[in-house]
Amino acid sequence: TTFQLSDYRESDFIVDAVDLTFRLDPERTEVVSTLTVRRRPGVSPDAPFVLDGDEVELKSVSVDGQTMAEEDVAETGNGLRLSNLPGQAAFSLTITSEIAPERNTQLMGLYRSSGVYTTQCEAEGFRRITFFPDRPDVLAVYTTRIEADRESAPLLLANGNCIETGDLGEGRHYAVWHDPHPKPSYLFALVAGDLGVLEDDFTTASGREVALKIYVEHGKEARAAYAMDSLKRSMRWDEERFGREYDLDIFMIVAVSDFNMGAMENKGLNVFNDKYVLADPEIATDADYANIEAIIAHEYFHNWTGNRITCRDWFQLCLKEGLTVYRDHEFSADQRSRPVKRIAEVRLLKAHQFPEDAGPLAHPVRPDRYREISNFYTATVYEKGSEVVRMIATLLGEDGFRKGMDLYFDRHDGEAATIEDFLACFEDATGFDLGQFRLWYDQAGTPVVSVSTVWDPGSRRFTASFEQSVPATPGQAKKDVMHIPLRFGLVLPDGSEAEPTSVTGARVTDDVLHLTQRSQTVQFDGVSARPVLSLNRGFCAPINVHFEQAPADLAHLARHESDPFARWQALNAYAMRVLVEAVAKERAGGTVDVDPALAETMIATAEDETLEPAFRAQALALPGENDIAREIGNDIDPDAIFAARRAVQTVIGKTGAEIFARLADTMETPGAYSPDAASAGKRAFRHALMTYLSLADASPARANEAFAAADNMTDLSQPLLLLAHFFPESEGANAALATFEERFHDTPLVIDKWLSAQATAPGAATLERVRMLMEGEHFSRSNPNRVRALIGAFAAGNPTGFNRADGAGFAFLADEVLAIDGRNPQVAARLLTTMRSWRSLEEGRRRHARAALERIAAADKLSSDVRDIVDRTLAG
Ligand code: ARG
Ligand code: ZN
Repeated sequence: TTFQLSDYRESDFIVDAVDLTFRLDPERTEVVSTLTVRRRPGVSPDAPFVLDGDEVELKSVSVDGQTMAEEDVAETGNGLRLSNLPGQAAFSLTITSEIAPERNTQLMGLYRSSGVYTTQCEAEGFRRITFFPDRPDVLAVYTTRIEADRESAPLLLANGNCIETGDLGEGRHYAVWHDPHPKPSYLFALVAGDLGVLEDDFTTASGREVALKIYVEHGKEARAAYAMDSLKRSMRWDEERFGREYDLDIFMIVAVSDFNMGAMENKGLNVFNDKYVLADPEIATDADYANIEAIIAHEYFHNWTGNRITCRDWFQLCLKEGLTVYRDHEFSADQRSRPVKRIAEVRLLKAHQFPEDAGPLAHPVRPDRYREISNFYTATVYEKGSEVVRMIATLLGEDGFRKGMDLYFDRHDGEAATIEDFLACFEDATGFDLGQFRLWYDQAGTPVVSVSTVWDPGSRRFTASFEQSVPATPGQAKKDVMHIPLRFGLVLPDGSEAEPTSVTGARVTDDVLHLTQRSQTVQFDGVSARPVLSLNRGFCAPINVHFEQAPADLAHLARHESDPFARWQALNAYAMRVLVEAVAKERAGGTVDVDPALAETMIATAEDETLEPAFRAQALALPGENDIAREIGNDIDPDAIFAARRAVQTVIGKTGAEIFARLADTMETPGAYSPDAASAGKRAFRHALMTYLSLADASPARANEAFAAADNMTDLSQPLLLLAHFFPESEGANAALATFEERFHDTPLVIDKWLSAQATAPGAATLERVRMLMEGEHFSRSNPNRVRALIGAFAAGNPTGFNRADGAGFAFLADEVLAIDGRNPQVAARLLTTMRSWRSLEEGRRRHARAALERIAAADKLSSDVRDIVDRTLAG
């Protein structure tokens, strides 16, 4: 079935309250659900009540205490249809059913992970717990009673506040939780088990005392400290930046080790993949700390953007996700370095969202059709969705944006809203017309803006010509003209900025140029020296710019732009230019040479003491192999890309060796490890320098030494990667891997790093290593983190290994997708998305990729998740 946005209809029945009783048992959990229901005014009195259900065994149904007649209860295969219900009056509907948490391998609904009962309901998991109109626009007040064995489950948690606990005899006990805020079923949560807790508290701006609790495996409480600190900072930040306070007396987070995604914002009871909760210097890297901070914030911010105001239907997913990602991006930017955070965001957007938007799985930020909603928790909905919100903030300015957000919270609190509702708030609060802008929600594909410029010294006029287009995407052949806001600057030879006396041909507000036509010629008058156009500062618009800027101009921007992000952007574009040329040379069988000015500019940036170390680390990081592939676009030979990139890297390392060695010595972080952004930046810079120096020396010596000296996971894992990827045959590489495994064999989250380090070692031989690791004691197909760390990392992060010329990598992935699909369709479908760029490969590899996809498509039993991805990947 394909669901379409245009088919949306309000539900016939309104559910005001949901009373749930769970009698927990691993093999047969009884769920008694009593709904307080009324017919929506105007709905026919004979309309049946249709409820969703999936793998739920029905026991009985009664209305106002009377068992329903058998002929009025139809099991449809994906739920229930109840007929002959009261026509006018509200009624109470009680459904008794059974589920088996222990056998729930999909990790959707109620399942057990390491002996802990837990739930995941978004998007359509609640129907795997009980029969219910499982759609986000049905908002009800929930009361949850949990009964369980006291010994195995001393802890009984659900949404809201705990209002009662007691003993049931025979070793069982119960707790009752009440959540006063009406919510959709996807925000329901229940946790029961034996866990340790880290406790703290928070006083909100208006004086509400909130108990904060983070539940983790016993003995790991101390590892939740950074998550707790991040939570308190998030709560304060949302008050200060958006005026949003927390609204219950308790906020709980539970960390579980089997989880399909990162985390889930269930009301008052967030459930997290433990990867995004647990940290201490021995087990977590700087990147892990930054992720924990961001994801704790993300889920907390959902309390207002997602929970208090939710989505009318799943087509509107970006309403909560894009907005909440934007909010967590801003939070991290405020907590850390804004430009460095922005660089990381843009790298991630280009690495994940741009290829999605350019391939067969491309879809609008707000899709208008889907077969399986789980497949739409994508980089486009999340990251491009966030960029669209960022553009609204650019268009309206900080004050206008805040006014629109205030109106949104005010107007839609307690409702299930749409993108139209959201945009109307900004228009009504500021008067700004978003009529053309809203196409960003509906048109898929990354817009391309082609630019050319001329400066005429005689008339002192600078002219820039722009042409925009949006590539065709599946289901959208023709595109309309978009409103593209571009921050810009005209950088003069001395590094200062030109201030034109007049601009014609486009609207300009502050430093934003508004492209609103297919082609536009913009004249800047009163420009007395030749300027270099710095376009799309801050990566204000998520577009591809085609602009043949001279290397000298890019170098000028990289050295003189006032905006640090723009300096990085220019340097990155320059490096990309050189890398693409190097790949062409490599494929033609020539020797790769490197424009010396690129190396000089990179070295000068590394040496620039006015820049923070984290920025200098970013400046030194060349575009990755997948980035280069995306830039080249078609007929991709991953081996040539790898070889060319390695050659360029080596030249830069050799050219800068002396300076890099001197700089590395100034980047010490003495004393105890601290995860703060400044220290992390020094470590990142030191590791970037070490990589170049190791290449220059053609020796693993520095990495061996660093590995031996490391006293924290960041300093340990970086040389491990360096050894495994650059010196895989060396004694040091094998010794380091062995030492690492020995030290951390009891800590699966750290073993994931060990698996990934090996899975991403370049070259055709890695596939055999991956197969071997799958046979080893550390791998399990049933744990999503292990699958992602080994198979996911191999497919997504090892271009030469996965795209082996003989097609063995694709065949392997197909086998694994099929093997995992039977147990966990979401994980299988996600794994398969790593094939999305198959058409851009050179012909031989493309043929092998198609064969692997066709083999999956031909399997007799596929989940709807994998069916949807494989069909679209082959068709697009
Ligand atoms: N809402 C969660 C978040 O953004 C993600 C839930 C994803 N669930 C799913 N079934 N794909 O943090
Ligand atoms: Zn989210």
